[in-house]
Amino acid sequence: MRKRQPDSASLTEQRKTEHIRICLEQPVNGVGITTGLEQYRFVHQALPEVDFREIELKTEWLGKEVRTPLLISSMTGGSSHAAPINRRLAAVAEARGWAMGVGSVRAAVENPEVAGTFRIRDLAPTIPLYSNIGAVQLNVGMGIEQCRRAVELVEADGLILHLNAMQEVFQPEGDVNFSGLLRRIEQLCRELDVPVGVKEVGWGIAPDTAKQLVEAGVAFIDVAGAGGTSWSQVEKLRARDAVMQRAAEAFADWGIPTAVSVQQVRKALPNQPVIASGGLHTGVDAAKSIALGADVAGFGRSLLAAAADSEEAVDQVLAQVEAELRIAMFGIGVRTIQELRHTERLVRLL
Ligand SMILES: Cc1cc2nc3c(=O)[nH]c(=O)nc-3n(C[C@H](O)[C@H](O)[C@H](O)COP(=O)(O)O)c2cc1C
Repeated sequence: MRKRQPDSASLTEQRKTEHIRICLEQPVNGVGITTGLEQYRFVHQALPEVDFREIELKTEWLGKEVRTPLLISSMTGGSSHAAPINRRLAAVAEARGWAMGVGSVRAAVENPEVAGTFRIRDLAPTIPLYSNIGAVQLNVGMGIEQCRRAVELVEADGLILHLNAMQEVFQPEGDVNFSGLLRRIEQLCRELDVPVGVKEVGWGIAPDTAKQLVEAGVAFIDVAGAGGTSWSQVEKLRARDAVMQRAAEAFADWGIPTAVSVQQVRKALPNQPVIASGGLHTGVDAAKSIALGADVAGFGRSLLAAAADSEEAVDQVLAQVEAELRIAMFGIGVRTIQELRHTERLVRLL
């Protein structure tokens, strides 16, 4: 591993805690940019010809049947505040059949004392569960062995690498050498024996990038598009350097909106597993994302307040999302997620 400051483990823990606090308390949405999902409407079907009670959310993900096409996006772990959040999310995800990603496991690779905050498999034995590290870590000392450990620790079904260049650059302690990463990702995909997915963190993935990643062996793409949490806005609130703090404001509307990213990536990769996330709040957002081409819809910060509160609160939010998704399907007369994927009843407003 690259030699880090002796207190880098506690700095990482402090950063995780600050991220949660800022995301809970401060305005961190992108400004002047939206997901683009609001520009789409379903064409109402007054005669659905479907029994609402027969609507099914089950679908296929990476060759396996899953109970819903819904995902809790990678968020946290690695600090004392993160542990109960992850446990509440995991318990409810298991009960309701959502997939789940944990936040970056680098903290636990650096500091085994916080490994427990990522151990949630006991609570979520059957759902797809994903470990997570920043792809840039492959350039600063995380090799195949550390990635294997990241997967083992979570007992994960796969590893998600996050691409967060525009976040790292605004972090005082950020890792900014993103050169040569594609080759390292390719090597990791070859050597790791679980699927490797790649996600952004709220700026979207362009179709050319998605194609390169898939050609490198990446099993799925999560576009994590713009319009929701903006990590330059988050880091602006942590910045100590006045120049960088002001510079962050120029990027408040940066990124590819979620609706655009998912549609373009699907067009470029007709058969590849794709997740739409970034700024999703409701089951109608999920339904639109799926109709635009996603297999799965992911929710990040919109679950955080409930996760910081209680298992009951998480259950309520997830139940609401599912209800909204089912009702949206009823409103356009589709019974299955497969039919939703292929509906022609989603139109763009002029
Ligand atoms: C508190 C918090 C911590 C996060 N930590 C991570 C992380 O460790 N790894 C990661 O890939 N994404 C992380 N994310 C990014 C989310 O997975 C997601 O891509 C991003 O917030 C955009 O989605 P949203 O608008 O639904 O929040 C984090 C998000 C939040 C709110």
